[in-house]
Amino acid sequence: MTIQKMALIGTGVMGMGIAQIAAQAGLEVRLFDAKAGAAEQGLAKLKTTLEKLQAKGKMTEQQLADTLARFVVLEKIEDVAGVDMVVEAIIENLDIKQSLFKQLEGIVSSDTILVSNTSSLSVTAIASSLEHQDRVAGFHFFNPVPLMKIVEVIAGLATDEQVVADLLELANRMGHFGVRTKDTPGFIVNHAGRAYGTEALKALGEGVASVSEIDRILREGAGFRMGPLELFDLTALDVSHPVMESIFNQFYQEDRYRPHPLTRQMLAGKKVGRKVGEGFYQYVDGVKTNEAPRQPIPVVTDFKAVWVKADRDEDAAILCEYLENNGITLDSSVEPASDSLILLATYGEDTTTAALRLNVEATRAVSIDMLTDFAKHRTLMPSIATEKSYIDQAHAIFAKNGHGVSVIAESVGFISQRVLAMVINLACDIAQQQIATASDIDKAVKLGLGYPHGPISWGDVLGSDRILLILERIYANTGDQRYRPSLWLSRRARLNIPLLHTSVI
Ligand SMILES: NC(=O)c1ccc[n+]([C@@H]2O[C@H](COP(=O)([O-])OP(=O)(O)OC[C@H]3O[C@@H](n4cnc5c(N)ncnc54)[C@H](O)[C@@H]3O)[C@@H](O)[C@H]2O)c1
Repeated sequence: MTIQKMALIGTGVMGMGIAQIAAQAGLEVRLFDAKAGAAEQGLAKLKTTLEKLQAKGKMTEQQLADTLARFVVLEKIEDVAGVDMVVEAIIENLDIKQSLFKQLEGIVSSDTILVSNTSSLSVTAIASSLEHQDRVAGFHFFNPVPLMKIVEVIAGLATDEQVVADLLELANRMGHFGVRTKDTPGFIVNHAGRAYGTEALKALGEGVASVSEIDRILREGAGFRMGPLELFDLTALDVSHPVMESIFNQFYQEDRYRPHPLTRQMLAGKKVGRKVGEGFYQYVDGVKTNEAPRQPIPVVTDFKAVWVKADRDEDAAILCEYLENNGITLDSSVEPASDSLILLATYGEDTTTAALRLNVEATRAVSIDMLTDFAKHRTLMPSIATEKSYIDQAHAIFAKNGHGVSVIAESVGFISQRVLAMVINLACDIAQQQIATASDIDKAVKLGLGYPHGPISWGDVLGSDRILLILERIYANTGDQRYRPSLWLSRRARLNIPLLHTSVI
């Protein structure tokens, strides 16, 4: 069936966004809201938006007139009769959505598609008391709908395959990328999104680095558009903390999704983020006022020789070339000389553990994170015993030519390593759970969360063997189930085949 006539129930932020892209794609759109005057208001606001688009030359006058002519505001819900599809975008409450769907079933024909824009409720549960559950699906858009070109098409237990196909086709016609997903907590995007924030919170809670430094490392080093803590401030903890708790609990306390007590406490203290002027940062008129400046670069005059030990030969080569180019003497002996700076490029461990494993003195050891782009940002991690003069020397060496350097406290696996390994591992596990195809997960998360790569292909870009090594070491060093590698990732990394590879069976 080609869907041509749509009814939209709930004309709030999401409903009107969906209405806009539907009408622009040529569908007839009927609007209904329980609150008197809300649909008219929604339409008036949309008219202003479309007129602005027309003024900017994004649509012709004719297109504007045609688009607006496709809307009808309904007085009563019974007038949805005769449409091909009803989209529900009302309040996020299971009981209320269930009774609306029951009411709709009494109005529309048995093959009219009924979809919910729910972001956290089970589509199967929404449909559960209906007679014809096969025509119910989730159609989950992201805010703002016209700009976020992704929609999750959620198949509940009873959803007909043809309904999924019709919705994927409609998504495409509306200029959105439709991804098919199973009806599971958080679907794809909100599920995959659990890794970034929770791991950053864990590192913050361990005192690894300050709020500003964690955000800076993940922006400058790993390439995320926003740091995880500033992102929490933007989304606001009254929205994101309950989502973290809900997904964790819906997956029966799976450690990979474990939230952090810090955000619960901040929520209790009403420090929920930018909208109230205080969260992880403070804000005046929405502008951050207390981001910490870069750590000052120490003045060092007497540079000792540097002894380099790396897990990977490629990393050792990059570091040695950099040191030589910057006039630093390399200590090339088998064992470090008695006063050399010991530079370790390791994965998934802290500097104390690395120094003990390599049998070198922790008092002169500083580790450097080589997972992320060395040319963009450098994270240094001394051991708890490293002497200040050696920390200062490493800092001064790597900050040459204005490079961004962050010096962090001991962390099992730096910050970028932990966070990226968790992001990649979680996405791989979503593929392992067959919630969606690996390539759909990759595209959905990139579009839905704005990551610089899809989280599965990111693993291939960085090397799945490295990601596996990070996870295995962190897991071994902490004993925390959270870090156990997904079978999806470990099988592919060990066979040296792409993480996007899908098996025949
Ligand atoms: N806001 C987001 O970022 C976002 C993203 C994805 C999904 N969602 C989901 O979309 C849905 C709508 O969210 P929103 O942010 O647009 O909410 P909103 O508060 O902006 O709009 C909801 C609208 O529904 C109306 N409404 C409430 N109960 C109704 C009922 N029984 N019958 C008819 N109309 C009713 C309200 O009057 C209001 O106009 C929710 O399920 C939400 O979880 C929201």
